[in-house]
Amino acid sequence: MNTNIRSTSNSATFINPVALTNCLPALSYQDRQLFIEQVATSDIVQKYGTPCYVYSRPALVQAYHDYVDCLGEIEHQVCYAVKACSNIAILNSLAQEGAGFDIVSIGELSRVLQAGGQASKVVYSGVGKTANCIEYALEKGVGCFNVEAISELDLIHEVASKMDKKANISLRVNPNVDAKTHPYISTGLKENKFGIMHEDAVDAYKHAQSLSGLNIVGIDCHIGSQLTEIAPFVEALDKLIELVDELKAIGIELQHIDLGGGLGVQYIDEEVVPTAELMQAILPKIKASGLKLILEPGRSIVANAGVLLTSVDVLKPSEHKNFAVVDSAMNDLIRPALYQSIMSVIPASLPDNQPTEAWDIVGAVCETGDFLAKERLLNLAVGDVLAVTGAGAYGFTMSSNYNTRPRACEVMVDGNQHQLIRKREKIEDLYRDEMLWEK
Ligand code: LLP
Repeated sequence: MNTNIRSTSNSATFINPVALTNCLPALSYQDRQLFIEQVATSDIVQKYGTPCYVYSRPALVQAYHDYVDCLGEIEHQVCYAVKACSNIAILNSLAQEGAGFDIVSIGELSRVLQAGGQASKVVYSGVGKTANCIEYALEKGVGCFNVEAISELDLIHEVASKMDKKANISLRVNPNVDAKTHPYISTGLKENKFGIMHEDAVDAYKHAQSLSGLNIVGIDCHIGSQLTEIAPFVEALDKLIELVDELKAIGIELQHIDLGGGLGVQYIDEEVVPTAELMQAILPKIKASGLKLILEPGRSIVANAGVLLTSVDVLKPSEHKNFAVVDSAMNDLIRPALYQSIMSVIPASLPDNQPTEAWDIVGAVCETGDFLAKERLLNLAVGDVLAVTGAGAYGFTMSSNYNTRPRACEVMVDGNQHQLIRKREKIEDLYRDEMLWEK
């Protein structure tokens, strides 16, 4: 735990902005102003307005290299999980570094291709692939299907055979490992909907072997997200390797092991596992297996490359509670409302005095669950700009138009350069495809 970042008094939390940004490479205070790389957030706000997602291109690229730089000795492919943040400028930046992509829909595949990614470096995960999706993916030459059910094997075989193709497949095995994370983002337990049960896996591979439209290439798992320990990854890997050996003994030889994503990040002062440490823990085992390693990181690539900038619109102090209503809401960033995630909210401009008032930072959506943070010690005035850090992952991609709110714009920075990478939606955009009843 990094002890000088968070302090609590009378149930109110103070997050020390300078101590926090000292841990986040993309962010810094310069002359008391919050910068992302060498761009003042005030310049971004002036040019693009709020709410606004801002991403550091160098931080994104560095987080990708934190993985690949450890993997030089073995054959590998790091497939960025597109769902974490799918703007094509983000995908393009990673594709230029050689990244592959983990997708869960043909919408995501289409984005990857639009962004200049290679279909052959794509793994296609997800529990509900339809014949149409499979056909599209095969047509585009997707690298591998991560198969989640026996019936999916049959469907892929059927579609591939009709197209006179052979589909590369891997089975997503549910290793029944406790990822020790929030129940909504835990995926590797037997009560979760994902994957094929470990004990059914060998039979599923035998079945796959009998289907001429399939080419068995790998095995995969993804046990959950925001993992802060190494042990569950190692436990899951051991279970996969056990299966690799069992399959080999019956003549089914795999080419790769895909360990999924899930590495956690520092939102406030959490003790997290550095990417290199996780790689060091798994590398000897992968090396010994002689197989290629595929990884599917999302959050650990992009969370701390991004912030959400938001302005204070209304202050509502009262005897019981102080509310600061900001111009972003649960429709822009749903993680606090959906998972009770505690994210850091820091000022774009450091105040002169230590804050003494605690505020709930809330949006203008008509839901009590609409909050970004609770009981935070902050000095606030109407018009102040705040930054929610760690918002690069599962921020914009989970945003919606609830309450007919246009979605935020997105900006990328590199050095002292900044560029709009998604326009702010206009209100007319929101009902453009709707029609009046005319019968
Ligand atoms: N691979 C598969 C098959 C996945 O389902 C996921 C995430 C990933 C990779 C990437 O995991 P990551 O490295 O990002 O942990 N919306 C939630 C997180 C949901 C994760 C879903 N699956 C949140 O905001 O915390």
